[in-house]
Amino acid sequence: MIVRFIARDGTVSTVAANPGDRLLDVAQADDQPLEGTCEGQLACATCHVIVDAAGFLKLQPASEEEEDMLDLAHSATRTSRLACQIRLTDALDGLTVRIPA
Ligand code: FES
Repeated sequence: MIVRFIARDGTVSTVAANPGDRLLDVAQADDQPLEGTCEGQLACATCHVIVDAAGFLKLQPASEEEEDMLDLAHSATRTSRLACQIRLTDALDGLTVRIPA
């Protein structure tokens, strides 16, 4: 399966991933600038990404804890998520996410 990252400058990076991978790990392996400071403990929001509308609908809904962290994220949008909370599945093949400004 593949995942696409759109960098702040608009550069698109298409990377291979596997079901079960955490989106944050895939992004970091591709050198995307997501710090993931808290290692997925829902305590930092430095793994904030903006998911494309079609992909967003396929994701499991965010937990209340994730929503609370997203409220603190800079430039959060309706389709913002925390990459540490997204486990890839076959259904998410082609998922496209943007790195926020
Ligand atoms: S890595 Fe800290 S909330 Fe995702």
